[in-house]
Amino acid sequence: MRSMLAKPVNDVLRPLHVQIVAGTSSDPAVKGFLPARKAIAAANKAGMPLGAYLDQTYAKPGATPDTVRAMLKLADLPEPCEAVCEIGAGSGRFAEEVIAAVHPARYEIYETARDWWPRLSELPNAVMRKADGRTVAETPDRSVDLVHAQKVFVYTEFFVTAGYLEEMARVVRPGGAVAFDILSEDCMDEATVREWIRISSFYRPTPRAWVVQFMKDRGLTLAGSHFSPLPPGTAELLVFRRG
Ligand SMILES: C[S@@+](CC[C@H](N)C(=O)[O-])C[C@H]1O[C@@H](n2cnc3c(N)ncnc32)[C@H](O)[C@@H]1O
Repeated sequence: MRSMLAKPVNDVLRPLHVQIVAGTSSDPAVKGFLPARKAIAAANKAGMPLGAYLDQTYAKPGATPDTVRAMLKLADLPEPCEAVCEIGAGSGRFAEEVIAAVHPARYEIYETARDWWPRLSELPNAVMRKADGRTVAETPDRSVDLVHAQKVFVYTEFFVTAGYLEEMARVVRPGGAVAFDILSEDCMDEATVREWIRISSFYRPTPRAWVVQFMKDRGLTLAGSHFSPLPPGTAELLVFRRG
């Protein structure tokens, strides 16, 4: 339907050398993602669950469950787990694993790609939040046990990442955890950086020491880290706890 509407609009805009494209945003804070329809169709064609298909195609088989296991071990969440918040949930592959492991009463999702909303909103106890690309404004202070973002701050602009870190520190409750992966210095080996140069990579490294201090200034202590595949290299998942 959207493409049917886009055609007449684009016919009018053509002399201006401008066109509208479904599902993209002009907001510099918001980065693009896989189109939901195509990704789901490809997984169905391969006869695989979507999460397993995405792991196999874009990372390594089992990467998502491995990362979630490592994150939850370091997070050491209180039981029962009342609320989890995820930024940039995408296909929901991490959400599925987290929900199956900790059964939160509320799983809040901030996702800017609207075409993934129908799938995400069907996850158990999912609460779709208004995603402005910068904040988790609909989540009250100190209200969630875990707030996490996976494969998001590896490509968002620094002002977006820093803003979200501040927000994550705001919403996590005492005894809870904040987890996210970054491209730290330890992910920047010679072969990976050479490949980033070759492919004009859109990845955005973030200084680990700065992150640790920024979170410490907000009452969060680093519990540990875990490296996960992010071809052509790895990303470092950092897990912080609020005592
Ligand atoms: C590389 S994908 C990772 C998706 C998912 N976390 C996973 O690992 O499968 C990045 C996700 O962040 C979303 N995103 C991009 N910019 C964002 C922003 N400013 N705020 C929140 N989400 C954003 C994208 O739509 C996409 O779902």
